[in-house]
Amino acid sequence: MSGPNTDYDPVEVSALDPAAIEAASEDALAAIAAATSLDQLKAVRISHQGERSPLALANREIGALPPSAKAEAGKRVGRARAGVAAAIAARQTELEAERDERILVEERVDVTVPATRRTPGARHPIELVTQRLADAFVGMGWEVAEGPELEAEWLNFDALNLGPDHPARQMQDTFFLDPVDSGLVLRTHTSPVQVRTMLEQEPPIYIVAPGKVFRTDDLDATHTPVFHQIECLAIDKGLTMAHLRGAIDAFVRIMFGEEIRTRVRCSYFPFTEPSMETDFVCFACHGAGAGDAGGQCRVCGGSGWIELGGSGMVNHKVLRACGIDPDVHSGFAFGLGIERALMLRHGVQGMHEMVEGDIRFSQQFGMEV
Ligand code: DAH
Repeated sequence: MSGPNTDYDPVEVSALDPAAIEAASEDALAAIAAATSLDQLKAVRISHQGERSPLALANREIGALPPSAKAEAGKRVGRARAGVAAAIAARQTELEAERDERILVEERVDVTVPATRRTPGARHPIELVTQRLADAFVGMGWEVAEGPELEAEWLNFDALNLGPDHPARQMQDTFFLDPVDSGLVLRTHTSPVQVRTMLEQEPPIYIVAPGKVFRTDDLDATHTPVFHQIECLAIDKGLTMAHLRGAIDAFVRIMFGEEIRTRVRCSYFPFTEPSMETDFVCFACHGAGAGDAGGQCRVCGGSGWIELGGSGMVNHKVLRACGIDPDVHSGFAFGLGIERALMLRHGVQGMHEMVEGDIRFSQQFGMEV
């Protein structure tokens, strides 16, 4: 049995007055009901349920009561505190539900709204086809060579046996650089890369040289002042026109398919002797020359053949200009326009589509041609 309570403090004990407990409880319940947000409820919890709250302080005073009053006060305070705790828990649940509801509305995501996705780019088909051709030749052991677009007139013309009076040197074909006697032109073909390579490397030489070329043509359905060519050059001992045909056939197979046949016709280029023009059998009419509707084939114009490009055995004058002895080495070269090949292969209607840079044009070709 504990002895009489000597610490009896009437001031503190007055907090245990039933009316005061009731008032503290009502205050707490009113504040809980008035809390309209979880933050407010948190503040209410601290002031009405925390360590310094009236009911917690009253609870602490119970120990100081005489034993006869303890049970009664303990029950009263306990009930009040339990009531407050239950009210806080209930309000907490309510406010959380309200918050969740609000978030569902406020942060609603409409999954049916069309996404603003950035469309992926696409490489231009000219680039794709160039890569494809270069890759195929690299696979056969050839190398890719490059030359500048701003070229020395001598390399673009003279070294290729295009003398000063050659019509290709006239102003209407060539972009000359100011002053006209600067000796510089925008290269009119990729053939000067042949000369550069022969001047720099000892035979054997096997190169492909793709790149931009420039001519003073207006842009129309079949012309553009800036276009692309790919040039091939082989210099070795004992090369003949049979090797040239083999290389061209490999080229055509890569570009137009396995079973495409070729033919050659005599032609003339100052930098090759003999020179020839290569045709391949039309892939649309297979050489028949007839179109679907009974008329002429639209792709080849009815001839059954499509012109591919020029070629020939490298002219001895060119070999000599590049320091190669024609009695020891021989070589062949060919060159063709990429745009033309692309128009044929994919039925591209006109040059405009190819130069305008509209991404939708490139996207049709995907990442492979
Ligand atoms: N350079 C010529 C042109 O632009 C094309 C050409 C013809 C290239 C014959 C060659 C060749 O290498 O042997 O029209």
